[in-house]
Amino acid sequence: MGRLLKWTADYLQQQKADSPRLDAELLLAQSLGCKRIELYTRFDEVVADEPRGKFRNLVKQRASGMPVAYLLGRKEFYSRDFRVTPDVLIPRPETEHLVIAALDRLREIAKTGAPQICDVGTGSGCVAITLAKELPTLHVTAIEISPAALVVAAENAEKLGVAERIEFVEGDLLTTLPETPAFDAIVSNPPYIGLVEKPTLPRDVLQFEPHGALFSGEDGLDAIRALVDQAPSRLKPGGWLLIEFGPVVADAATAILAGSPHFETPTVEKDLAKLPRILIARRKAN
Ligand SMILES: C[S@@+](CC[C@H](N)C(=O)[O-])C[C@H]1O[C@@H](n2cnc3c(N)ncnc32)[C@H](O)[C@@H]1O
Repeated sequence: MGRLLKWTADYLQQQKADSPRLDAELLLAQSLGCKRIELYTRFDEVVADEPRGKFRNLVKQRASGMPVAYLLGRKEFYSRDFRVTPDVLIPRPETEHLVIAALDRLREIAKTGAPQICDVGTGSGCVAITLAKELPTLHVTAIEISPAALVVAAENAEKLGVAERIEFVEGDLLTTLPETPAFDAIVSNPPYIGLVEKPTLPRDVLQFEPHGALFSGEDGLDAIRALVDQAPSRLKPGGWLLIEFGPVVADAATAILAGSPHFETPTVEKDLAKLPRILIARRKAN
């Protein structure tokens, strides 16, 4: 097994995988139906024909660029396992900052009542479900334009035991919701990559992740512009708008929110790499 792993890691490295050794271990553990950590006590074992065949097939797909999360059918987010399929964006560690920023504000609100929030572009449901897990009184309306993604999100909510507190809605941003000030917060990790950036994206992302989850018009700002426009009428006075974005669009997105007469001055929080990542503003009280 040790030699098989070494050979595979070298091969994946030649195929330009980012983390070849880790990928090889995860795919072998999946083929053997065991945990990755268990491989370390089994290094001297010979892998039987059936798991070896499974492993070879997975490695072939990985070498062609298919992300490991899709091959495993799961990805960890905020220390929980989420089912993922090629219909949903693979949850990113950066998005945990969106969750933390939302929790910081919602915990305060939860002291006096049950917060109501909306998650726009829910994808796998990772943001909506994590917030519901962390705040037992929270109710979430989770919106998604892709019906196939909604199926995955609903499965994750069921599996993680929060389905009764999340309403999944198929819709285009906030347009399907009435213009009533219902929410204490609207959170979103919308698509924010400009079509102009397409040639710069890694192959694994461009070829395998859903383009509806990545791109938002030429400059990447279509969804953020629309959210800033649609959110005020659905937020309670003093309610929070929290949007994840990428460093490329950070200045332009901040200017869009700062230009809205309905919000107080926005703030930007950085991720662990010190890159601007979360845009936050409060609806004015009037
Ligand atoms: C960047 S992904 C985020 C997914 C998930 N919330 C996460 O953080 O991993 C954006 C999601 O928004 C959805 N989406 C794109 N345009 C939308 C729209 N106009 N209305 C609702 N959802 C949309 C995509 O299908 C995708 O699931």
